[in-house]
Amino acid sequence: MAILFQKETNIFHLQTKNTAYQMKVAEYGVLLHNYYGQKLGEGDLSYLIMRADRGFSGNPYEAGADRTFSLDSLPLEYPCFGIGDYRTDCIQVIHEDGSNAIDFRYKSHEIQNGKYSLEGLPTMHWENGEGETLVINMEDAATGIKLKLYYGVLYEKDVITRAAEIINSKGNIIINRGLSLCLDFANERMDMIHFYGKHAMEREFERTPLHHGKHSIGSTRGTSSHQHNPFVILCTKDATEDYGDCYGISFLYSGSFLAEAEVDQIGQTRFVMGIQPDTFTWRLEEEESLFLPETALIYSHEGFSGLSLRLHDAIRENIIRGEWKHKRRPVLINNWEATYFDFDGDKLLAIAKDAKDLGIEMLVLDDGWFGKRDNDISGLGDWYVNEKKLKGSLKDLSQRVHEMGLKFGLWFEPEMVSEDSDLYRMHPDWTIKIPGRNPNRSRFQLVLDFSREEVYQTIRDMVFGILDEVPLEYIKWDMNRSITNLYSTALPAERQGELSHRYILNLYRFLEELTARYPHILLEGCSGGGGRFDAGMLYYCPQIWCSDNTDAIERLKIQYGTSFGYPIGSVGSHVSASPNHQTGRKTPWETRGTVAMSGSFGYELDLNKLTTEEKAVIKGQVREYHSYYNLIHEGDYYRLTSPYEDTRATAWQFVSKDKREGLFFAVVTGLQANPAPVIMKLKGLTAKAIYEVEGLRHTGEMLMLGGILLPVPTEEYQSYRYSIKMISN
Ligand code: GLA
Repeated sequence: MAILFQKETNIFHLQTKNTAYQMKVAEYGVLLHNYYGQKLGEGDLSYLIMRADRGFSGNPYEAGADRTFSLDSLPLEYPCFGIGDYRTDCIQVIHEDGSNAIDFRYKSHEIQNGKYSLEGLPTMHWENGEGETLVINMEDAATGIKLKLYYGVLYEKDVITRAAEIINSKGNIIINRGLSLCLDFANERMDMIHFYGKHAMEREFERTPLHHGKHSIGSTRGTSSHQHNPFVILCTKDATEDYGDCYGISFLYSGSFLAEAEVDQIGQTRFVMGIQPDTFTWRLEEEESLFLPETALIYSHEGFSGLSLRLHDAIRENIIRGEWKHKRRPVLINNWEATYFDFDGDKLLAIAKDAKDLGIEMLVLDDGWFGKRDNDISGLGDWYVNEKKLKGSLKDLSQRVHEMGLKFGLWFEPEMVSEDSDLYRMHPDWTIKIPGRNPNRSRFQLVLDFSREEVYQTIRDMVFGILDEVPLEYIKWDMNRSITNLYSTALPAERQGELSHRYILNLYRFLEELTARYPHILLEGCSGGGGRFDAGMLYYCPQIWCSDNTDAIERLKIQYGTSFGYPIGSVGSHVSASPNHQTGRKTPWETRGTVAMSGSFGYELDLNKLTTEEKAVIKGQVREYHSYYNLIHEGDYYRLTSPYEDTRATAWQFVSKDKREGLFFAVVTGLQANPAPVIMKLKGLTAKAIYEVEGLRHTGEMLMLGGILLPVPTEEYQSYRYSIKMISN
């Protein structure tokens, strides 16, 4: 049993293979958070909760003369606004009488076999009946409004999920803030690690000591965003890659979000996460309910490596779905950086021909094949084929690509419209903009109001029309701007605050319909690169284009940051031209290969312009990638150095689950005259086994405790790819 309720103590125990989570129904039905961390038995840890009379931190009325029971200092499982807890909270509700307080207390609970799911939202899925669910029923006594707290326990993967549902029972209420999770820590002074960025430089690592007051990150952009990622780590001061307590929290949601930590007046830490309140209100009429999206929690006492390893496995097995979950992803050539908008059917076929000769398996036709779209000023929304440009139908092109023995993929940006498009001319009111205000333009495009049913149906019919006619194995689903000026002509004034979330719900509905109807199509998510790289999107898209920045050296940081919360196989990663189009940097072919191979691999350059020698390099890389495929996609991934701290070289490693094989990758990032040695300590091997690396034989412990000595580089940005083979055990 992974979930247990002890009647005598009123304690809920949630246990995974290596972790435990404990809650207690305390006096007056207040649900306290006792513990989350390394696994321990079933003892009641509530003796650690300090009760003290604290001035200006009042007490619930029922506490009578007991001045030590204060919601302002107790560790709570789901804190509510307006009832005496002044810390950051999970829920705020405005009632019909204008009051703004809610007080959820425990009523009952249910323990169920199997995992709950949330209609219309991505959730971790438990196959083969694995997993258990706890539903705690809470109620606000004054109004009868109910709250269900959902907990899913995935024992083997060490994952606990949380979500919530609010059920209205009286009058109309407005939910002003509805977060999915709160985690209270009694006395730890923690650091928060988050992954900030910008377009073309996503998920940079930043570690911040938490301080009195609030530290928040998030997005109000309508997407999870390039600027912040909805995956964070809370850790103790001493935590490193290999040591220390850390908690990973991943939000399975692709829209605006908030992640906020607060150190309170007595030094306790609270962390909350959920839909961004700044762009959210939700009106619930009587008997209506609302799900608050899922968060996935992972704890590790073995530092960030342990955390990432578990999370990678859980995402690969329990978030990613469908035919492509474990199926080999094709090595692709994408024409974007090869041609941008300047192509025709002949050019695409010429690239396809070279691709086939080099062992590449799929041609992806990027932006520019539809409507009037020869630059980024026009055409979005007109999802009909530009046959003049393609010199024939898209079906013909697809057939010819298939006849060459390649798969064929296509780019779409369904959520957008250009002002210069037939769709916009017909339906100017289908965009998100506020009447009487000029909309904000970005990349010359406006955002379609995806919350409107007619918009949903029209775009769906256009996209499905193409998919029904043209044989395709892959779609790149793009989204190239942030949303602002939130307003929908289809919603009444009191529901305008719902637009941002309704948009995401219909996006998920579209992706669900698409993946169900075309299960053989591999979906790659994209939002100007990695602007919507989150666990919610991975439920529909097994891979996501990681960044519009294809510079191998900048990618070291981007892919390093991404690897904390997401498996390497989900990272779309391509070799592009040198000098690089985004930075102008020159890097060797092999280095571009080394970096791009640590992901879902492909190319993004004009193959027709390459010399015979360069083509031979590509052929070799594709062959090599195939031989490494299982290690990269199914193996364990270790960060060996940090590109922020280790200035000489950045290294990482893959190890097969049975530890018989591995891969060591390193890129030189700093040259020195008369250089000091660069030694890299490997990870994850069997200590006493003998391994062969670069023709030399060593025990696993020699490689892990001693390390390997990198050769002195002869060229800037040189890279190394060593295979590691167990010789004897
Ligand atoms: C975005 C994507 C790119 C490319 C362009 C096309 O920027 O991230 O890969 O598809 O759009 O306009």
